[in-house]
Amino acid sequence: MKDILTAPFMQEMIHTCTNMYAHGWDERNGGNISLLLDEEEVKEYLDVFKIIRKIPTGFYTKELAGKYFLVTGTGKYFKNVERDPENNLGLFRINEYGDGAELLWGYSQGGRFTSELPAHLMSHEARLRVDPENRVVMHSHPTNLLAMTYVHDLDEKAFTRTLWQMSTECIVVFPDGVNVLPWMLCGTNEIGEATAEKMKTARLVVWAQHGIYGCGKDLDETFGLIETAEKAAEIYLKIAHLPLKQTITDEDMHLLEERFGVKGREGYLS
Ligand code: 13P
Ligand code: ZN
Repeated sequence: MKDILTAPFMQEMIHTCTNMYAHGWDERNGGNISLLLDEEEVKEYLDVFKIIRKIPTGFYTKELAGKYFLVTGTGKYFKNVERDPENNLGLFRINEYGDGAELLWGYSQGGRFTSELPAHLMSHEARLRVDPENRVVMHSHPTNLLAMTYVHDLDEKAFTRTLWQMSTECIVVFPDGVNVLPWMLCGTNEIGEATAEKMKTARLVVWAQHGIYGCGKDLDETFGLIETAEKAAEIYLKIAHLPLKQTITDEDMHLLEERFGVKGREGYLS
């Protein structure tokens, strides 16, 4: 059996947590990540019959029964993941009934998965239905996106259009736009269900006055998705109070659609 700390998925997870902390998106225990793994890759590093602990999840997921996830721990700091991955991360399988987790590695000091597991797993379900390649759900508290939810209209079309206009690459990176939830109590099945519903039509879901969720096929891509939206929000906050002289027009957006072979969300461009 190979050392799990050398696994590419583990290295990538550690690197991503460290990088997100460095970006200032994950203060204290802020943020959480879940990465869907293949059984075959897990088997190279772990005896999948050796269950350390069973942890109830508090909700039911039929489609994810038997699936393996590497997930950040609740109350754990992204800052510390690199120093002590086994305490700050956990690898588990959803049991055959879809209502609990079977811990195979990690959460070494008696910890458990993020309190946002409902939003993560429900979002995995929703995205896998749209895109079977989806592997990652990522939540964080990027400063500028969060700030923007205090001063910008939360209407999804308006929010998306503003972000698209803030830099040329935006419509190319997130043509499906950004969906937005109003402030809701976090860590609940309710916010999980609402997030998953929003994930049906976009890979980015903003939680007003809290942060953002992003989805993608790997950690790099998902990080890049949030990074691009966050940069756009930063530009918005730099210019919002200044008189606007010009912007990226809808005509320009159509040129980008053509050039990069993407299609902006239906009805969002004139
Ligand atoms: P956890 O520490 O439970 O992952 O929660 C952090 C967070 O960002 C809550 O939204
Ligand atoms: Zn959060």
